[in-house]
Amino acid sequence: MNYTNIEMKVKTMFEADASGHDWWHIARVIHNAEMIQAEEGGDLELIRLAALLHDVGDHKFHKEADAPQKLITQILAEENATSATISKVLEIVSQVSYKGAEVSTSCNSLEAKIVQDADRLDAIGAVGIARAFAFGGSRNRLMYHPEQPPKNHKDFEAYKNDEGHTINHFYEKLLLLKDRMQTPTGEKMAQKRHAFMELFLEEFYEEWGG
Ligand code: ADP
Ligand code: NI
Repeated sequence: MNYTNIEMKVKTMFEADASGHDWWHIARVIHNAEMIQAEEGGDLELIRLAALLHDVGDHKFHKEADAPQKLITQILAEENATSATISKVLEIVSQVSYKGAEVSTSCNSLEAKIVQDADRLDAIGAVGIARAFAFGGSRNRLMYHPEQPPKNHKDFEAYKNDEGHTINHFYEKLLLLKDRMQTPTGEKMAQKRHAFMELFLEEFYEEWGG
């Protein structure tokens, strides 16, 4: 199995994305995951591989529910990964994604916890704010509408199909993440980024002018 070949394939898939899911998101998630692993332990090679592949086939870009399994298996099989490695990566990737305020995303391995924290750290803070508006713009969503309050999504379908404005996304996901971090190191890293989002929202409402 050649990590560099897999990296090149993923780069090609995500290079031109303008919705906040470009290659640099993936590079940051790998970096975050390495920082968390240095404190928490876990299988570094598996963590890197799962972080690299975590957005391949994502529901935001693919209609078929089994797109991640299909595409990730294909990429790894082309590089002669063992079936044990493929199933470990698939398990981690299936546990990473946020599915709505009231849907619990359980991780049954340290590696899954680390990749989930690494991905969520990139959804908050300054980069997270930039990504949220990039994603909203890519879906023709309003930045904000003062008369449309946030929703508490009860299931993944409701969360996935919501077309609300981007400020709502802060209350429906981004501000909830710091209390849902899976590792102590991830939780520590989330504090500063969370505080920055709160400050951003304060300024935003002040400038919006009531
Ligand atoms: P996840 O798998 O948890 O959804 P991703 O790595 O795919 O994580 O990234 C999700 C990114 O997409 C976040 O940064 C988030 O801001 C953005 N995003 C998703 N849904 C919305 C939305 N409804 N409005 C604005 N941004 C969104
Ligand atoms: Ni991601």
